[in-house]
Amino acid sequence: MIDIDLKFHQWQWQYQISTTFFVCVIVPSLYYIYSKYITNLPNKYNKLEEPIKLMIPIPPEAKKNWKGRRLYPLSIRSTDPTQIQSFCPATGQYLGTFHAQTKDEMNETIQKAKEAQKQWAKSSFIVRRKLLKTLNRFILDNQEDITRIACRDSGKTKLDAMMGEIFVTLEKINWIINHGEQTLRPSKRYGPSNLLLGMMKNAEVRYEPLGVVAALVSWNYPFHNLIGPILAALFTGNSIVVKCSEQVIWSSKWFVDMIKTVLKLLDLNEDLVQLVVCFPEDADYFTSHPDLSHITFIGSKPIAHKVLESASKELIPCVVELGGKDAFIVLDDVKNLNDLSSIIMRGTYQSSGQNCIGIERVICLPKSYEKLVEILSERVKTLRLGSDIDQLDEIDMGAMISNNRFERLQELVDDAVKNGARLLHGGKPYQHPNYPQGSYFEPTLLVDVTPQMQIFHEEVFGPILTMIKATDIDDAVELANGCEFGLGNSVFGADFSVINDIANRLDSGNVALNDFATYYVAQLPFGGVKKSGYGKFGGEEGLIGLCKVKSVVMDKPLLRLLGVATSIPPVLDYPIKDDKKAWGFITSLNIVGYDFRIWNVIKGFKKLARGGR
Ligand SMILES: *[C@@H]1O[C@H](CO)[C@@H](O)[C@H](O)[C@H]1NC(C)=O
Repeated sequence: MIDIDLKFHQWQWQYQISTTFFVCVIVPSLYYIYSKYITNLPNKYNKLEEPIKLMIPIPPEAKKNWKGRRLYPLSIRSTDPTQIQSFCPATGQYLGTFHAQTKDEMNETIQKAKEAQKQWAKSSFIVRRKLLKTLNRFILDNQEDITRIACRDSGKTKLDAMMGEIFVTLEKINWIINHGEQTLRPSKRYGPSNLLLGMMKNAEVRYEPLGVVAALVSWNYPFHNLIGPILAALFTGNSIVVKCSEQVIWSSKWFVDMIKTVLKLLDLNEDLVQLVVCFPEDADYFTSHPDLSHITFIGSKPIAHKVLESASKELIPCVVELGGKDAFIVLDDVKNLNDLSSIIMRGTYQSSGQNCIGIERVICLPKSYEKLVEILSERVKTLRLGSDIDQLDEIDMGAMISNNRFERLQELVDDAVKNGARLLHGGKPYQHPNYPQGSYFEPTLLVDVTPQMQIFHEEVFGPILTMIKATDIDDAVELANGCEFGLGNSVFGADFSVINDIANRLDSGNVALNDFATYYVAQLPFGGVKKSGYGKFGGEEGLIGLCKVKSVVMDKPLLRLLGVATSIPPVLDYPIKDDKKAWGFITSLNIVGYDFRIWNVIKGFKKLARGGR
């Protein structure tokens, strides 16, 4: 009895010691390591940045089972030429009519943004983070409503929106909260390389707001594409005017109003964020406005030509993010082709294929090719089209933004089939029994595609999966590089060194190894090469791209302390008194500064000390 009691006592004692150790040492250390090295959350618990609670009423159209009338015929043009109509592409339901702005009205929005920015440029990172943290909280608390608003205007499924709109936006907000300030702090640089001058000078690069920046964003991610540039602009101290696509005005307006409400509740100027709505033919005025200091353009190549031409009139710098013809290379040693087929399906049919980094070409080595064609031909058939915006239906693929490009998609399929491709599924528009006005295109599987077909080269931006057979690795690389685009590619294989080598040979802005699109994360710069555009958004490069990069050189602190000022040496001062001495002085300065042969340096010093003689 006593023995047992003693043991129990001992056990309890040890238990208390280990618990205390765990709570006092292990937990704080783990937290320290986590916060410092893993997430680097310097200000997570800074009281001054505490997000505020807010309620913003959700519009009736964004409610579940909203009964909106169906529009017929489906068109953004209304009877009044100054108005643009919004509708849900999945159901044809009418969402509203919006006034297309005139040039004067556009100018007014830009002037408001310009005025508001003056104060905002001086705001602290604490205020800017508080703004982002409040938005972060609002998005987290209203995920479903925001998702439904994006779906209503784009026709995509709620799951597609959750992954492509909400997740990536939260990722971006949190990266900026955690790392934005660190990126924008002055960056210390080396002073001059000349030994003598380098001893006297310090140098740094400072990042200052540009002023009013603009973003012209595409409709495929109405929430993420719109809010991404706004977050980056506000955090860098700029104000921003966003021109949304005329396809998604209803949701864009709500999202911009939501940010304005947050600004107002935080006692900040709501004019910092402006929305421009206009017809494409009036966009020239906007993109050549002298008060814009930067343009981010997300869209297609033909429009990019117009934007750049117009922006060049005022020398407005642009980042252009255009389409891609992304390759998905599969080597023969990939083990689980079933799992791989899931990635291919998600990467192709997500948002009905309307993705700038969607999989446009699956390039396989022969053994994988045969097996993947077999697996995919079974799986693509099972995809269900429709809308889950109102009820939680088991739907795999939603609508496309409109039926404008159905004809072109069919032409591309027909051209491929005429040139020897096999159409295993789909290839035409789909009339949905429940949503006859919806813009649906059948999930399409096209195999045996070759570079002789138009579809090999032209961006599809739709739900068409194309399979291309490569003879070997060199052939696969050549095929992948054999188009005018270069946005993002994926490579799959069992041997890492082999796929890593392929990554180095691919002509593209981004590569994912044994994965798809994972480079689209907030900490990395995103953008393409070749005809996919230029410039980067996202990551440190994206934030810095929205700043005036100012190089500043100053005397070293010790010199400032001693009151030593650098000045022109008398021998070089106007008027030159002795040309020979001046010449000797300047050549010696070069020798002392840049020659590594010690005797020359000593001789150079001597000559300098003699004033160049
Ligand atoms: C915009 O409006 C301002 C003030 O009303 C005016 O001075 C300026 O010329 C206008 N700019 C353009 C490009 O129309």
